[in-house]
Amino acid sequence: MPSVPAIVDPSLDLFAEIDRLRKARKAVILAHYYQDPDIQDLADHLGDSLELAKRARDAKDAEVILFCGVHFMAETAKIVNPGKIVVIPDLDAGCSLAEQCPADQLRAWKQRHRDHYVVMYINCSAATKAESDIICTSSNAERVIRSIPQDRPILFGPDKNLGAFLVKKTGRAMDLWPGACMVHETFSAQKIAALKAKHPRAKFIAHPECEDHVLQLADFVGSTSKLLEFVQQDQGQEYIVGTETGILHTMKRAAPQKTLIEVPYEDRTAACQGCNSCPHMKRNTLEKIYLALRDLQPRIEMDESLRRRALLPLERMLALG
Ligand code: 13P
Ligand code: SF4
Repeated sequence: MPSVPAIVDPSLDLFAEIDRLRKARKAVILAHYYQDPDIQDLADHLGDSLELAKRARDAKDAEVILFCGVHFMAETAKIVNPGKIVVIPDLDAGCSLAEQCPADQLRAWKQRHRDHYVVMYINCSAATKAESDIICTSSNAERVIRSIPQDRPILFGPDKNLGAFLVKKTGRAMDLWPGACMVHETFSAQKIAALKAKHPRAKFIAHPECEDHVLQLADFVGSTSKLLEFVQQDQGQEYIVGTETGILHTMKRAAPQKTLIEVPYEDRTAACQGCNSCPHMKRNTLEKIYLALRDLQPRIEMDESLRRRALLPLERMLALG
């Protein structure tokens, strides 16, 4: 059952209240680029999955980490920094990738491939991480794969699209788990091709969670922070941005002189269940942030033995730099 948040007094100045509580609670607010603009603006640190995991690990002075992202990200913060109270505005902010690879199914897959090294994308639960040899994010995945001895066969999950991208990029054969991001897999190659024809000077930049036929149209492929960096440093003027729409806010601020075009998506169902906005990321609101800081709930709690097992593959990743 999804949790039902309390109703917040609509006359409250939420920005002022959040600021007051942030100080009173000695809290650090971490936010992913897919959060709503207001949330990105009030965060102490914005970043991609890897940067935020490092920020959480290094949050020495804070007593509370408020994670404005999805559940696996807040869980990762708790794994790397267990002494802190970790709160998330909405406990039901999940991730289609994490849902698609539960730990028991990964265990069964491993049993059928006993000699394989298990690389899991950070978009998975703590229990799934605990079954893995090493974790990767979209910004370090290539380095992680290249760190594995050539003679060791690899199981990669849960994202088959990131996996297929890495197979091409590194030349390493890997067995791929059949998961996908519900947002990135709705992007339409046909519509992107049409948009490129309409804007011939625009470069198409894409996240590796996109399907292969979409990535084939891309001028640059990278994690959210790499896409942001590309738009800032590249000599071009126009970009079709192939990832979740939230990042356009920070991109516009970082490169105000550039023209940014949202990626077109395929309306695959009459009710449009798929679009370029992540319904999980967008569960977080200012009201829920206020309540999370006020009540220090909902918290991420974890069994210590599970945390230790999940930490090991994360530490292997972080040790790669
Ligand atoms: P990065 O921010 O690490 O590129 O990941 C994107 C994503 O889908 C997070 O859920
Ligand atoms: Fe998960 Fe996709 Fe949402 Fe990222 S954008 S949190 S991968 S569902």
